[in-house]
Amino acid sequence: MKPGIEWRRPRASADSEQFAADLHAALSRAPKAISPKYFYDEAGSRLFEQICELPEYYPTRTELALLRAHARDMATQFGPQVQLIEYGAGALRKVRLLLDAMPRDSVEFVPVDISGPHLLAACDGLAGDYPGLAIQPLVADFTRPHTLPPCAEGSRRVGFFPGSSIGNFTPSEADAFLRLAASELAGGGLLIGIDLEKDHDVLHAAYNDAAGVTAAFNMNLLDRARQELGAEFPPDGFEHLAFYNPAYRRIEMHLRATRPLELQLGGETYAFHEGETLHTEHSHKYTVSGFQALAQRAGFKPGKVWTDENGWFAVLWLEAQDG
Ligand code: AVJ
Repeated sequence: MKPGIEWRRPRASADSEQFAADLHAALSRAPKAISPKYFYDEAGSRLFEQICELPEYYPTRTELALLRAHARDMATQFGPQVQLIEYGAGALRKVRLLLDAMPRDSVEFVPVDISGPHLLAACDGLAGDYPGLAIQPLVADFTRPHTLPPCAEGSRRVGFFPGSSIGNFTPSEADAFLRLAASELAGGGLLIGIDLEKDHDVLHAAYNDAAGVTAAFNMNLLDRARQELGAEFPPDGFEHLAFYNPAYRRIEMHLRATRPLELQLGGETYAFHEGETLHTEHSHKYTVSGFQALAQRAGFKPGKVWTDENGWFAVLWLEAQDG
């Protein structure tokens, strides 16, 4: 495998156009709802990294501890030669723990992320710290059809989807993603982090931190709409709302209108009544067996599971059936 970074950029990003189109659609439906992927512009990605450091936000540190403790065991499941694909690569912090447990020349690393500048910076940092590592970043929305670099002979594809990012998907979207992953990872497997069901107060606090970082992260979507798309709305017109919805086993985040107001976007006017929300995110919580059943239906064979002593977070190995 060739060491160093080799860029694969499928096309110039039409990010803003897509954001505008999706925001119009989001504001036209009832109830109003948009994909959380629009949180992650540069400012949003930075705010997310701050969330990961918050005392209330347990998932990141719990998963990091699991990776730190069990990386060698995890890497043993992968096999001797792997193309390691990280879905939604972000800061590339967690994968280092896996890479540290694998011989440098046994892996080709393919981080996939929607935020180009962020991915570029993270890859530069990784390349500096892991000289000789083959890195093939891919700027793409991994929930849409994308083309991975070819996998070398004798190598298996292993997906890495940490952070419980799959929690952002509805169960049917999770099913669609798992099917796509099972097909592109066929013959290899998927290492995935999932956030588990737990005390509702613990969940609530994780999305309503005292420092207000999660609120800023949520509100960034509107800042982005204003700066990038010229959207107009009263400056104090919206507030952060996050709560656990037990019926759906998910945290919901919304931007709630503090009073009746109008939002202008590209010549259209969208009315909000007081208390009406734009639903910005859901974060599903699973049980290990519930998630394994979902994965099994999508074409995986559940393997080893690593979890913390509180049972708050789990990392699962899933074998992708051949063919
Ligand atoms: C990146 C989707 C796993 O759902 O916990 C954190 C995003 N939103 N705080 C999550 C998030 C608010 C996070 N995921």
